[in-house]
Amino acid sequence: MDNARMTSSILFVCLGNICRSPLAEGAFRAEAARRGLDVMVDSAGTGSWHVGRPPDPRAQAEAKRHGVDISGLRARQVTPRDFRRFDRIVALDAQNFADLQAMRPGDGTARLSLLLDHVPGRAGSAVVDPYYGDAAGFGTCWDDVAAGARGLADEIAADGAQPKG
Ligand code: 4NP
Repeated sequence: MDNARMTSSILFVCLGNICRSPLAEGAFRAEAARRGLDVMVDSAGTGSWHVGRPPDPRAQAEAKRHGVDISGLRARQVTPRDFRRFDRIVALDAQNFADLQAMRPGDGTARLSLLLDHVPGRAGSAVVDPYYGDAAGFGTCWDDVAAGARGLADEIAADGAQPKG
């Protein structure tokens, strides 16, 4: 087993950390729990506008529809230190990815990817920002982050992440 490639921590990153990345965090936590994967999960935003706030009420409602409670999450901004703390940093869209690449410190070790790169047939696609749209956009967003969570969990399980014991 290649220990250097094992994943035990993941940070999901979008722009505001109130819609897409908290949903990705919630979907991945649920997926990891179902599979018994022991992975530390967090989310953050590239922007600072919503720091300290809970997820958008529409995101909370969508997660709840799927049995996932994200009400206790609070927005924070991604920092260069996150590139040393997390094994993987997963961006929700290409702009988030580019912003993360630009801030990666020289000693950053995290593997950076786009969430939908982990879904067969959807590499390079964005999870569309639902913030300025209607409630239906949050349903689409959930479907996308849940697919991403399943794909990521498949890869992590194949990499040899330890089941919770
Ligand atoms: P998120 O959505 O990046 O999925 O959390 C957004 C939330 C707020 C803003 C933009 C995107 N905003 O500009 O305030």
